[in-house]
Amino acid sequence: MQNKEYDFGLIGLGVMGRNFILNVADNGFSAYGYDLDKEKVDALKAEGSKEHVVDASTDIETFVLALAKPRKIMLLVPAGKIVDAVIENLLPHLDKDDIIIDGGNSFFTDTDRREAYLKEKGIHFFGSGVSGGAKGARRGPSIMPGGNESAYKHVQPIFEAVAAKFKGEPCVAYLGPKSAGNYVKMVHNGIEYGLMQLTSEVYDILRKTCNISNAEFHEIFKKWNSGRLQSFLVEITSEIFTQKDDLTDKDLVDMILDKAKQKGTGKWTSQNAMDLGIPVPTIDIAVSMREISALKDERVAADELYDRPKPVNMDKEDIIELCENSLYFSFIMTYAQGLHQLADASEAYKYDLDLSVIAKIWRAGCIIRAALLEDISSAFTQDKDLINLLFAPAFVEKVKPTVASVRKLAVHCAASGIPAPGIYNSLNYFDAYTSSHLPLNLIQAQRDLFGSHTYERIDREGIFHTEWNDVL
Ligand code: 6PG
Repeated sequence: MQNKEYDFGLIGLGVMGRNFILNVADNGFSAYGYDLDKEKVDALKAEGSKEHVVDASTDIETFVLALAKPRKIMLLVPAGKIVDAVIENLLPHLDKDDIIIDGGNSFFTDTDRREAYLKEKGIHFFGSGVSGGAKGARRGPSIMPGGNESAYKHVQPIFEAVAAKFKGEPCVAYLGPKSAGNYVKMVHNGIEYGLMQLTSEVYDILRKTCNISNAEFHEIFKKWNSGRLQSFLVEITSEIFTQKDDLTDKDLVDMILDKAKQKGTGKWTSQNAMDLGIPVPTIDIAVSMREISALKDERVAADELYDRPKPVNMDKEDIIELCENSLYFSFIMTYAQGLHQLADASEAYKYDLDLSVIAKIWRAGCIIRAALLEDISSAFTQDKDLINLLFAPAFVEKVKPTVASVRKLAVHCAASGIPAPGIYNSLNYFDAYTSSHLPLNLIQAQRDLFGSHTYERIDREGIFHTEWNDVL
């Protein structure tokens, strides 16, 4: 096929790239792929037909020349040095106003650097989060683009066509300048880590307290997914419990080692939240728990040294209800923390983010899609300056009736020796964030005593220092 006016170019024909480009072609746009791997290129060429216009090449010049101007070239390659290498490879062949879109999980400051570098050369660079995994890429992901707003109009029709739809609305929107898209995707992943940790905790609490079978877990999560916890992660969790192992006669979930890996986006969310000074303790602990999980040998050795209490007896239906309430509460706390971080980052990095739009484009296609996002979006539509979801009247009403259950469950876990740090951190975040009095006056006194760091007073303005009783 010798069409020199392909609408869209895609570099990196791995699973994500192949699925994304086929999605573009499914939606009536002609698309051209590039990969160094001839097998991947041939496999994509084989998909081409009159109705499904795709072609591919292993030659970068052939690829670039096949595209209509301004060229829209998306990279779906691993984050890091490869992105820079691909950009350098492309540059000699590009023309002014061509557009490069990085669809990977690049670190946001790398995106800022690349955007500034390419701007000097007259090339527009978009850092664009794509969520939904391989299936999402093919059937409709949630897409989070950031970059030059006027250049976005060239990309917009394609992205709106390929994105997941929620009640007909595409789950993509221009989010802001520079690295806004990558930043939003990073926090999406931080929230993803939090929700996954919380889901694993209720599984652990239920299996240790009541010996719940996998068949029952399937039913419990399925039921939860039909209620207010409706979400992609709860839905897939329910399905995980039905999967049989190919190698044994066991359920697959029971044969999987309890060590979770990570590629870094959750950790970056935590690290950057610390830089901004925004607390995201549910996300922090989700990262730490992946790290603890990786220390399997140490955990096994330490388990020998200490006794663990027997889980306290509890009625099965009661504890299932406590878990549902606690999961709902803790999911809300996780979204609240992530969105608080986004609100602050929007100011700090001048992204001018619209949190109601972000919640909207997370309603379908992405990993953290959940019924809750519809209410989250409404809360930020009603109050554009909402600093934390916990102030939204609708969320005050959702949170209040669940708190007592979370306290009960936390007590149960502490007494039973079941680690549930995501639930604890969510509860402690709530208790601290809603406390008008915290004991940090004592910390200020300590800082001033040993380091003359000064303090403020409750009864008058100003900065004070005291010559404390001599103890040092
Ligand atoms: C998505 C996911 C995806 C991420 C994986 C793995 O939105 O589709 O967030 O981008 O790469 O979930 O992340 P970890 O390896 O860090 O768990």
